Amino acid sequence: MPDHRTDLALVPRPDSVVTLPGRFVLDRHTGLRAGPGAEDAADLLRELLAPATGLPLAPRPDGRLTLRLDPAADDGDEGYRLTVTTDGVLLGAARPEGLLRGVQTLRQLLPPEALGEPARRRTDWPLPCVRITDRPRFAWRGAMLDVARHFQTVSYVRRFVDLLALHKLNVLHLHLTDDQGWRLPVAAYPRLTAVGGRREESAGNGTPHEGAYDRDELTALVTHAARRGVTIVPEIEMPGHARAALAAYPHLGNRPGTPLAPWTRWGVCENVLGVHDEVLDFCRTVLDEVGEIFPGPYVHLGGDECPSVEWQRSAAARARAATEGLPGPAALHRWFMRAVSTHLLSLGRRPLGWTETGTDLPTPFTVMAWLDPEHGRAAALRGHDVIMTPFRSTYLDHPQSADPAEPCGQDGVVTLRDVYENDPTPAHWEPEAVRRVLGTQAQLWTEYAPTPDRLEYQAFPRLCALADTAWSGHRDWHDFRRRLDRHQTRLDAHGVRGRSPHPERNASCEPRSDVRPLPSPSH
Ligand code: ACM
Repeated sequence: MPDHRTDLALVPRPDSVVTLPGRFVLDRHTGLRAGPGAEDAADLLRELLAPATGLPLAPRPDGRLTLRLDPAADDGDEGYRLTVTTDGVLLGAARPEGLLRGVQTLRQLLPPEALGEPARRRTDWPLPCVRITDRPRFAWRGAMLDVARHFQTVSYVRRFVDLLALHKLNVLHLHLTDDQGWRLPVAAYPRLTAVGGRREESAGNGTPHEGAYDRDELTALVTHAARRGVTIVPEIEMPGHARAALAAYPHLGNRPGTPLAPWTRWGVCENVLGVHDEVLDFCRTVLDEVGEIFPGPYVHLGGDECPSVEWQRSAAARARAATEGLPGPAALHRWFMRAVSTHLLSLGRRPLGWTETGTDLPTPFTVMAWLDPEHGRAAALRGHDVIMTPFRSTYLDHPQSADPAEPCGQDGVVTLRDVYENDPTPAHWEPEAVRRVLGTQAQLWTEYAPTPDRLEYQAFPRLCALADTAWSGHRDWHDFRRRLDRHQTRLDAHGVRGRSPHPERNASCEPRSDVRPLPSPSH
């Protein structure tokens, strides 16, 4: 018997779907009624549907499409109830975020053209009658976009946010700085973007590239995302992965007399921030500015892959370690992370960082476990909140298949199924570890993905699998594949240039010849 959820092919899969007979048709006469507190979701729905459908969805007190906030309802923070009958549509939620998730379900219930370019030949937009109750498994459902290695324009990032929202992903983690580029404007340090925002080439391709955001663009991006229920988590990498900053301001490093350029390679770079007072002042100034631009609770401080070679060689760093009573320069990493996180906490923000071991960051610190999933468990048992980001199942810069025609990426294949079957809280974990897991997210490192087309090819359809895993507690690969086949028509309508889950349809996907594979980074 076909599963009714499969028939509607919603991605991510809702908690409960009961199909009812009949349909309700939206047309140019359909009014939209928004109860108190539901106005923003109603405005968004109108704005999302208008370009493709031409539907005015005029505000009307007797409208048959109703959005209603029910603060006393048992929907949780992002749950919603959506009922479509032959008489009309009622979307209800306890909180505005729930309405925003329900709006995305409503879009997916419409014919796929509703997600596309203007398709006004159609005047009737049918919705199948259905009763859906839904809520997410995890509160943190994200995607990290590395705009440091290859800059992406704000208009592209807005589109990326729209694609996250369509899949009920609620966090865009923006990786703004790295060895290879610095994209964040900081008024007190203009060379960060002027010098650190340009690199001479990547992976030996001989082509310079550059880019940086301005503050107004980022502020508008935050608003665009917030309207869709997506929070932006900015990442400023420290104390490692900071060579672009050192290129701009060599005195922040450990070898001020040695000029550096933003790195043209991928991997782990020895050049890291110094540990003198001026560096901490720099970090505090940058974080103050980050706090002004990004209102969300979390700021990501990086913290990964920080070799201590330069600190071992530096008399100043060794002296700092001695003054702080540390066993040696390697311990400066933890000391550094504590110092910057203390500042962040004083700004009322929560520090977040990558962990390589599960034991390397001070508390309080929310951690992303990117190597072995067991590091997430270890961190949770030490009292950290954890976001599961293991590279074997969430790093979308790895190729999606072993096909030699696949565009190159990091060593090792991460298939659609690898992403789908990743359980952020493995069955053998202790309940106290499971309780600490906020959720999971996908990683899009961009050394090998310089353009929006390449990014979308890497992201889709694997991001759909991640969204399903993060939202739904139900895991059934075959059901997912069936839904994805239908969902593909929505992605196509949206103009998403992803990899087809049917390999024969990828024949026209050109491998990039100007980016050569490099040895794997540390993982
Ligand atoms: C990482 O991949 N170095 C977080």
